[in-house]
Parts: sequence; C-alpha cells; structure tokens
Amino acid sequence: MPRPPSFHIDRLRSADDQHFFDVISNGYGVMYSYAARVPAEDRWAIIAYIRALQLSQNARLDDVPPAERARLLAENPDVEMPYPDHFLYTTIEDAELGEPGAMDALIALKLSPNKQFADKTGGCALAERFAKTGDAAAARHLEACRAK
Ligand code: HEM
Repeated sequence: MPRPPSFHIDRLRSADDQHFFDVISNGYGVMYSYAARVPAEDRWAIIAYIRALQLSQNARLDDVPPAERARLLAENPDVEMPYPDHFLYTTIEDAELGEPGAMDALIALKLSPNKQFADKTGGCALAERFAKTGDAAAARHLEACRAK
C-alpha cells in the first residue's frame, strides 16, 4: 500500500497549486477524491496552508526581514552572507529609521563573533549613542561593553 509522500520533497515543493487542487479534487493513486466532502474554497485554503508549511521548513535567509536576519546572524556567527556590505547598509538604514528591533539586532551583530560583521568598537559606540535615547536594549549592550 503506497504511503502519502511528505510535502517537503522537492517534487511537491515545486509542484504548482493546481496539482494539489487536482489531487484533492480527483484523488491520486490510492488516495480518494475529497471533492464531495471538501468545498472548492476550502481546498484552496488547504493549499495555502500546505504552502505555509512548506515555507516553514524551507525558508531562505533572504525571506526573513532584515532586523530578524541580523539577529539570526548574531546567533549563528558561522553563517556567511553573499553581500555583507549591502546587508550591513540596509540593516543600518532600518535601524536609523527606527524599524522595531533593528538597532538591537545591529548592535548584537557587531558585538557577535560573526567574521563578516564583528566590530566591537562600532557596536559599543552605537550602544552608547542609543542608550542615551533611553533604549533599554542598547543600555544592556553598553553594560556588556563596559564589563569587558
Ligand atoms: C485535503 C487533504 C489532503 C491533501 C491536501 C492531500 C494531498 C496529497 C498529495 C499532494 C499527495 C501526493 C500527490 C503526488 O505525489 O503528486 C497525496 C497522496 C496521498 N494521499 Fe493525500 N491528501 C489529503 C487527504 C488524504 C487523506 C485523508 C488520506 C487518507 C485517508 C490521504 C492519503 C493519501 C495517500 C495514501 C497518498 C499516496 C497515494 C499514492 O501514491 O498512490 N490523503 N495526498
């Protein structure tokens, strides 16, 4: 008896939405048709959910917003970015524009051992500047800078 394949195999990742719609509507191999039990609108909603599940296990760093990306890079210092200068520029821009979490992530990244972005002097200078604006996260970074 064949088993249902994983939604995370390459073939089903690259299959288009229509394929999923057809499988639910008409059945596939030993899988029955669900046309009589699942209205078409719900079939599309199920497909959207499957896409979200697929993305959750196969997202690229590029799919993540910049502030979150900086945080991930700070926590995973071995990860290398293809265009570090460009990335740094956009993160600084987001941080200066007050994007939530961006300044905290930028400082954390500079203070991390990440080979491409480690910049303790720069990170501590940023922490000092933003701690003065009452930013709690920057104040915590600044304390760590002064401790060492
Ligand atoms: C709406 C819910 C469901 C969705 C979206 C769905 C989707 C799929 C997809 C995408 C495949 C693979 C098609 C391919 O290989 O290209 C598949 C295969 C299969 N599904 Fe479903 N399925 C659903 C419900 C079910 C249920 C309730 C059962 C069991 C009672 C089932 C049993 C199977 C089996 C056994 C296969 C493998 C069929 C074969 O290779 O012969 N599915 N399904």
